[in-house]
Amino acid sequence: MVRDLTGKVALVTGGAHGVGRAVVDRLATRGAHVVINYLRAEEAAQRTLRELTARGHSAELIRCSVRRHGSISRMFDTVGERHARLDILVNNAASGAFGPIDQLAEKDWARAVDTNLNGTLWCSQLAAAQMSDGGAIVNLSSLGASLAAGNYAAIGTTKAAVEALTRYLAAEYGPRGIRVNTASAGPLEGEALRSFAPAAGVRKAIRAATPLGRLGTESELAEVVLFLVSSAASWVTGQVLVADGGLSLGTALFAGEPGG
Ligand SMILES: NC(=O)c1ccc[n+]([C@@H]2O[C@H](COP(=O)([O-])OP(=O)(O)OC[C@H]3O[C@@H](n4cnc5c(N)ncnc54)[C@H](OP(=O)(O)O)[C@@H]3O)[C@@H](O)[C@H]2O)c1
Repeated sequence: MVRDLTGKVALVTGGAHGVGRAVVDRLATRGAHVVINYLRAEEAAQRTLRELTARGHSAELIRCSVRRHGSISRMFDTVGERHARLDILVNNAASGAFGPIDQLAEKDWARAVDTNLNGTLWCSQLAAAQMSDGGAIVNLSSLGASLAAGNYAAIGTTKAAVEALTRYLAAEYGPRGIRVNTASAGPLEGEALRSFAPAAGVRKAIRAATPLGRLGTESELAEVVLFLVSSAASWVTGQVLVADGGLSLGTALFAGEPGG
């Protein structure tokens, strides 16, 4: 089976809940041992671990802030000591303030850059040092990296940089047999959408502008990540794979009123 991950060790940043949790589920279900990184969500992390182990899957928790290089280093040292290998890294953790540019504070911008861009870089660098031929790194991004979504400048800009970084990582690690890709998505049903105000209006507008007529789910984005880490994508590297129901096709922009 091309998506069989038995015997592989995977690390998912921000894996306790949300999209990260859905990714952790997919990887564990396919047989990988999953190192679940979390920062604040201790309870959700413990619950995720309990549920996975109750289903017979193999996982462990490591608390670490991907904003801090020292903390990231310790996390990868621990993975190295415990497993002496790493096959898969999913850079899922993300942070940053929602709001107009005029209201962005320095600390919000720094948090977005440190977490989304720097965290992805340092985790990828330290992961690649432990990977051998066949390793796979997947970064997470969103439509706001290429479109200008309202109140999304801090996250969107750092995600655009993550997409560029993906190409550089892929080029440099390719000769070692390590693939690096980005899984991107339009807005999903779930926790994050509630950060937009007013969420109900946003949801309706997105649905209307999406050819498939709905928002995606965390589980659907996790499937894209699973594809990219698996051998089904063995010839794919340096790419951004977008799952958005066709929202970014921009069809709604040209729909117009009859006779308008
Ligand atoms: N939801 C969407 O609509 C959507 C769409 C497209 C792409 N994505 C991408 O999917 C990823 C996850 O999104 P989400 O909606 O699940 O986000 P979320 O609910 O806001 O969760 C963010 C995750 O990042 C972790 N995190 C934040 N700062 C961290 C730090 N310094 N160190 C370690 N972990 C940290 C959090 O861990 P703790 O809670 O443990 O602190 C949490 O697990 C993001 O990269 C996002 O861009 C999401």
